[in-house]
Amino acid sequence: MIASRHSRDAKKDLFELPAVSAPPYTTSAIIYDHMMKEVDYRSWAKYLIMLMALAGKKSRRSQIHGEKLCDYACGTGNISFIMSRLGYAVTGVDSSEQMLEMAGEKLSRKRKDHPRFLCHDMTNFVSAGTFDRAICVYDSINYVNDTAAIGRFFKSVYASLKPGGVFVFDASMESNSLGDASLFVQKGSHKGLQYERKSEYDPMRKVHTTFVRVKKDGQVFEEIHREYVYQLDTLRELFARAGFEEKFAAGDFTMLEANEDSERIHFVLLKGQHD
Ligand SMILES: C[S@@+](CC[C@H](N)C(=O)[O-])C[C@H]1O[C@@H](n2cnc3c(N)ncnc32)[C@H](O)[C@@H]1O
Repeated sequence: MIASRHSRDAKKDLFELPAVSAPPYTTSAIIYDHMMKEVDYRSWAKYLIMLMALAGKKSRRSQIHGEKLCDYACGTGNISFIMSRLGYAVTGVDSSEQMLEMAGEKLSRKRKDHPRFLCHDMTNFVSAGTFDRAICVYDSINYVNDTAAIGRFFKSVYASLKPGGVFVFDASMESNSLGDASLFVQKGSHKGLQYERKSEYDPMRKVHTTFVRVKKDGQVFEEIHREYVYQLDTLRELFARAGFEEKFAAGDFTMLEANEDSERIHFVLLKGQHD
């Protein structure tokens, strides 16, 4: 029996096949949760709550109840759902319709404690004085491609918080990209889709690029995810300019102060009571 081109291709590395380009978080949205299956979102959410407590916000369930929390760049809603089950009234904002569609599939008619999701660019999403807390996690800020847009994002978050509101975000730092970037390769399949990811880091341009290929209905799509690595001081200058007071910068999922070698930093920021 002569193998068809299709069956020969099925065994090939997806990076050897011709591909059609697709924007980030479009074709890959359906397999995002599968690709992230090693990520412990529950522990991450608990860590965020501990960090928020450092800014003077209590974290007991009774105190959380009904507090309004915005999850910027919420993706498929993994943290949003955990936070809403803990008692927050959650708004998840993301610019990818496809990621939000996946989040929407997790909504249950039987539960009332679920997030609402909005499709919007987070760098210009303002809901004046609405939220008690805001979060933005998992490298999402690294997707913002210049300092002017990051500055706009911080100002939008600041305007959207109530006085005394707390904002926690993380950033992937250069040590993370210098570490395993060129070694990272992931292959898998899920829901009938085959996928492969690989990364590279350009230390001159400070851009960490991940190529994501997804084979769907015999067609290979390629998304190019560019993440921009920012210096600690640059981020500090930008959020201070937006009005935030830094309460803490935690390194690598610890409660220890971050430094230049930290791979991931969570910043805990406060909007003053009188602003
Ligand atoms: C690595 S994913 C993280 C998703 C989610 N926070 C999580 O922890 O699984 C990055 C997300 O950032 C979103 N994103 C990137 N730039 C954005 C922007 N300017 N506005 C809103 N969302 C954005 C993407 O659509 C994607 O869902």
